[in-house]
Formats: sequence, structure tokens, C-alpha cells
Amino acid sequence: MTADWSDGYVVDVPYIEPLTPELCPARLSMAAVLHNQPPIPDSHTIQWIDVGSGSGLSACMVAAANPRISVWGFDFNPTHVERAREIANGAALDNCTFVEASFAAVASDRDLGPSDADVIVVHGVHSWVSPVNQRQITEIIRQRLRPGGLAYVMYETATGWSSMVPIAEALRLHAIADGRRSDHAFEEAARDVLRLAEARARYFPIGDPESLQFQLLTERNSSYAAHEYLGSHFRPVMFDELATIMDSKACVYAGSVDASDHIAGVWSPPELTDLLAHTTDLLLRQMLQDLVVQRQLRQDLYRRGLAAPTPDAQRKWMRHLAVVGLGKEYVDGSALTLPIGQVRVDDEFYRPLVDRLTETTLSLADIEAERSGMTLGDAATALGFLVEAGFAAPLVNGWETGSAVSSARRLNELLIAENLRGGDHRALVAPATGAAIESEYVEMLTLGALWSGTPDDVGAITSHVLEQLTRQERLVRENGVLIENVEEARIVVERRVRRALDRAQGAFVQLGIC
Ligand SMILES: C[S@@+](CC[C@H](N)C(=O)[O-])C[C@H]1O[C@@H](n2cnc3c(N)ncnc32)[C@H](O)[C@@H]1O
Repeated sequence: MTADWSDGYVVDVPYIEPLTPELCPARLSMAAVLHNQPPIPDSHTIQWIDVGSGSGLSACMVAAANPRISVWGFDFNPTHVERAREIANGAALDNCTFVEASFAAVASDRDLGPSDADVIVVHGVHSWVSPVNQRQITEIIRQRLRPGGLAYVMYETATGWSSMVPIAEALRLHAIADGRRSDHAFEEAARDVLRLAEARARYFPIGDPESLQFQLLTERNSSYAAHEYLGSHFRPVMFDELATIMDSKACVYAGSVDASDHIAGVWSPPELTDLLAHTTDLLLRQMLQDLVVQRQLRQDLYRRGLAAPTPDAQRKWMRHLAVVGLGKEYVDGSALTLPIGQVRVDDEFYRPLVDRLTETTLSLADIEAERSGMTLGDAATALGFLVEAGFAAPLVNGWETGSAVSSARRLNELLIAENLRGGDHRALVAPATGAAIESEYVEMLTLGALWSGTPDDVGAITSHVLEQLTRQERLVRENGVLIENVEEARIVVERRVRRALDRAQGAFVQLGIC
């Protein structure tokens, strides 16, 4: 934890390897259009930069699913850069480059990587690095983001995290006194700190979102938790702090990447809607909104100069928006989890839409035509719900024509091969979305078996998966519970293999995975 080059960031244990769909160009384009800004152009090779790219898996996802994009990742941790290159080489991604460099080094040398970028993403960095490093990151954006380029910044917000700050400090001091590697030190620190709440230390109770994080302390992957809590600079950020700095770099807030951000009703209860609607100051309105929903994370989209499009241009971009189904079944009467809480939607309208997604993609114009009297704005609301609820993801137009299917397949095969060696990847790259979708161990092994020539036979594949589980001394989990009974495990695995085989012939074909 005290390496000279670390600048207070945790470097003695690598970060986990998430696949984050929000970073993909199709998702960023959709967010831009829903906020009346142009999509990312397809007239030239897009330069896409990930600042603080970690293991590089998300950057590799973007490279594999969008082979015409030039992808760059910067990170100062050589362990992360080595791993990122290993993934990129293993999947033969030749449009993806990782550079070992600190934020300060990138900010002071425009020859490191591309000098101009169309997209810069900074995911999960701001709330964990020093104010000096935060300024270096925004300086990189100022120098490199071309006019009209998009910057995506995801960070933890004070409204949903602030009371974890003293707890993180206690965890950090505990880990320093312990002296062992961060992940090992974290486990013991978490156990001790949890006792504070059990013994009714007066600091508790803390806010609801923080309480949830607090209760999960001992269940967290300890490598993840070490990065989350043990750095010297953990501090949730508030929207206006970042927006003000970005504004000074000529980058204007365009909206959030949350698919429901453009839907006013889901961000406030009716009794506060007029307060938010009458608050014209952007910084204040976002701050009030974060207080209303006790927001924990922000996924902000900035643009290097806001465009002033004509209404015709806006309508044209809107009508081009389309989504592809993710194979999630619609259950009548179920509620959607939205920022404001659980919301019931009209089954008569949404069920047919979700059913249609099993057959075809849906454009905003298709949704508009679904019911008479519907406006393009209503259709945009419906589209936001479909994406937010996990029924659909933004579609990459023309994904079938390039080499995305083969590059995504190579990366998926690599992820499956790593799972066979004890890895824990739970996502598959889906070229139709330009990103990854959620998956799980049995499903991934089923695909791996099919791809390596095992016949489409439930019994044979179930036995293969069970053998792998036994060989790796791994248990299957159902509804969060580990299944130790062998017969129960067989039933669960067989059910999942059947589902995976169905998906391999249905949703996965539409998504370009199979
Ligand atoms: C929480 S991780 C997020 C990684 C990745 N964006 C993701 O979402 O998986 C933060 C990353 O920032 C990198 N980082 C922290 N301080 C840095 C610095 N001063 N210069 C370059 N990279 C830094 C870390 O090595 C780490 O990979």
C-alpha cells in the first residue's frame, strides 16, 4: 500500500475484472441522443480512451464488439497493464493498446497514445484518487477530447456514500497497523469494524444505502473491497464539484448514461416534481435530485461543447435509435426498480413489446407506432424503461457486416477457458450491443462445450459442467445459496444447461453471440 508510485492508491493487489456495458459507444450514443445531442459519428475511426483502465477487460469488450474503433487504455499499475495486454493478445484484438502511465504522465505528454479522442471514459476512478490526480484526469480530457467528443465519468456520490468515509478510514488504519497485503488485511479489519455496529457504537445507524454497503463488508470480494476502502483518498464526489471543473475545461454536462435519466417522473415523488421542474440552475437541480433519490453512483456524460441541433436533426437521431432484446422474460405484474423506487408499468403495453423483442429489434419509430396517439417522447420513455429493466440494450446498427462476431467470439472463448481454469467471469460479449451482457458459469460452460464440438445434448453437457465443478471444487449457487447436495446440484445445472441451449438458439443468435 505504500509503494512510492502509488500516490495513495492500492497497488499491492490487483483490481477485479468487471465488464461494464455503459462504456460502450452504442450506450453513450443513445444517452447523447436522448439528451438532444448527436450520436458518436461513424464517419471516421473513433478513438476511444479508458483512463484508469484496470485489468482492461472492459476496454477489450469495447474493442472486440466494435472492431472498427481504436481502443486505448492507460493505467499506472504494471500488473493491470500486463493483464490487459494478456487479454487483448489472447483474443487477438489488434485494435486495442494498453499503456503503463500515470495520469500525470499522460497529462504531460500528448504523444502517449492518441492526441485526439472521440470518447474518453473514466470509470470508478474519481472517488478514489487524490484531488491532484482528479485534476490530471480532467486535464487529459481538456487536452485530448475533440470538439463534440464525449467524456463519461462514473463515481460514487456523497448523497449515498458519505457516512462510509469515517468507516473506510477506520478500515484503512486497521489495515496499515496489520501490515499484511491489502486483501488479507481487509478481511480482519472488516470483522473488527462490523463489531462497532453490533455493539451499538453511537456513530450508528448510518444512512440506508451506506448501511447496505456496511452489512456487505465481510461478503465482498476482498480484492474489490481493498480498492474500494483502503486507498488514502477515498472520498465520494458531489456532482457540482466535478461539473464545475469539467466546465472550466469546456466540457458541458449533457446528461446521465442511466437509461431512465430523461424520464422526469422516475427521479422524484409527485410532491417534489414541481420543486425540481422549477429549479433551472443545472448544478442545484442535479444536487437536489441526488438528495431526493439518495443517489450512490453517478454516470455522467459530458460533451466538448454542446451542439445546438435543429428539431429535425434531433428527430432524425431519435428515429435511428433502436434496441435489441436480451432474452429476459416479461412477468405480468412485476415492478421495475427505478431511482425513485419500485414502479408498476402497464403490462398491456410492455408485454407485447418485450415479446416482439424475442423476434426482432425495435426502433423508437416501431415503439411509437405500437399505440395510436403516442409521441416520440413517449416512445423514448418506453425505450428507457426497456433498457433500465434489462429487457433490451442499445443496438449497434450494421454489427453483422464487420468482424465483430469473430472478435467477440474469440474474447468469449478466452473468458470461458479462464472459467475452466478457475476464473469467475460472468458476462459474454454481444456484438449486437457493442458491449457485454450478463451470463453465469453454467451458461458460459454450455456455450464453450457447444463451440468445441460437443453435441447439443442436455445430459452430456450437464455431465461435463458437473465434472468441471467437481474438478475445481466449486459449488453452484441458486438464489444466493451454495448447493452442496449432489442431486440438487445436478437438477440446478441441468435446468441451466437447458436454458443456455434455448438461449443459444434464440436470444444469443439475435445478439450475435452464437
Ligand atoms: C477502481 S479501479 C477501476 C478500473 C477500471 N476503470 C474498471 O472500472 O474496472 C481504478 C484504476 O485507476 C488506476 N489508477 C489509480 N491511480 C492512478 C494514477 N495516478 N495514474 C494512473 N492510473 C491510476 C488504478 O490502477 C486502477 O486500475
